[in-house]
Amino acid sequence: MKITVIGGTGHIGTYLTPRLVELGHEVTVISRGKRKPYRPHTAWDSVQRINLDREAEEKIGSFGKKVSLTKPEAVIDLLCFTVESCRQLTEPLRGNLGHFLHCGSLWTHGYSTVVPAVEEQPRHPLCEYGRAKLAIEEYLFNEFRTNKFPVTILHPGHITGPGWLPINPAGHLNPDVFEKLASGRELCLPNFGMETLHHVHADDVAQGFVNALINKSSAAGESFHIVSTGALTLRGFAEAAASWFGKEAKLKFLPFEEWKKTVTQEEAGATYDHLAHSPNASIEKAKKKINYKPKYTSLEAVYEALKWLLAAGKIKSEKPLA
Ligand SMILES: NC(=O)c1ccc[n+]([C@@H]2O[C@H](COP(=O)([O-])OP(=O)(O)OC[C@H]3O[C@@H](n4cnc5c(N)ncnc54)[C@H](OP(=O)(O)O)[C@@H]3O)[C@@H](O)[C@H]2O)c1
Repeated sequence: MKITVIGGTGHIGTYLTPRLVELGHEVTVISRGKRKPYRPHTAWDSVQRINLDREAEEKIGSFGKKVSLTKPEAVIDLLCFTVESCRQLTEPLRGNLGHFLHCGSLWTHGYSTVVPAVEEQPRHPLCEYGRAKLAIEEYLFNEFRTNKFPVTILHPGHITGPGWLPINPAGHLNPDVFEKLASGRELCLPNFGMETLHHVHADDVAQGFVNALINKSSAAGESFHIVSTGALTLRGFAEAAASWFGKEAKLKFLPFEEWKKTVTQEEAGATYDHLAHSPNASIEKAKKKINYKPKYTSLEAVYEALKWLLAAGKIKSEKPLA
């Protein structure tokens, strides 16, 4: 099949693009050509690369047209953040496309009511990003109903893997948190440490897209959570991460308003965002309808990221990872 992947060299694309080539698809990747995939793979030799700046092309109204010129049978859009951007892409593709896959986000849920949250639960997006992703979902499902536009939407959690920083047990990105746990130093967590994070390995996100393509008849017109088998509490995450270095986590807890004074404004903002959402999503629907079977638990996904961070000297530990 001819598949065009928009933004196919980043976290997800590093794994997804080679998977598609290995399955025998003819793959075109559109990006600005600034980034290299995190991992080398011989599959990249047979990928057609087109350098386009989506934002610049959208300003002159040519992005969707240029994507349609690749004559795709399927399009995987990993880079869409507004309805306008989505509309501009999908209008020229309408009627000529076998499958359109959009990368959404768990942030469309906002806070959950019953956990693990199912896809059909009422949505309460909490931030502009979540509201915009939800608006895209509504637009695409309306296209499915009114124009039979063959859409599938995947909602990943915190994408994690070798090559970049995972969300840490304090809910932000500063790798010092792992160094504290690795050296047995005290770590202060917000509240009771019982709010949740829901990671997913980038290769499992790639698996989700591939399985949705393979199972198009049950995937069209549907959205799926693409996360690990279980969310983590901050406290449980911290304890597990310390144990990887042979340590017991020394944890202290403070109410969020006091805790935020112990970190930078940027860290406090990231933690607030993660705690307010406290994602905890069900993958039952993806398991049943598209045979999604994540290879990594949340802890295994973070472990992979940590292994890379240690090897790259981005975090230091006297003890190796167990
Ligand atoms: N990160 C998370 O934890 C998370 C969680 C849930 C959902 N998501 C969703 O995942 C998607 C992002 O996937 P990702 O994490 O794999 O992305 P990523 O690692 O940020 O990679 C972005 C890709 O898009 C390309 N790109 C960036 N700006 C571009 C532009 N203006 N024009 C053309 N190409 C451009 C990049 O290559 P160049 O720089 O070379 O152009 C790269 O190939 C988004 O839809 C996001 O909402 C992410």
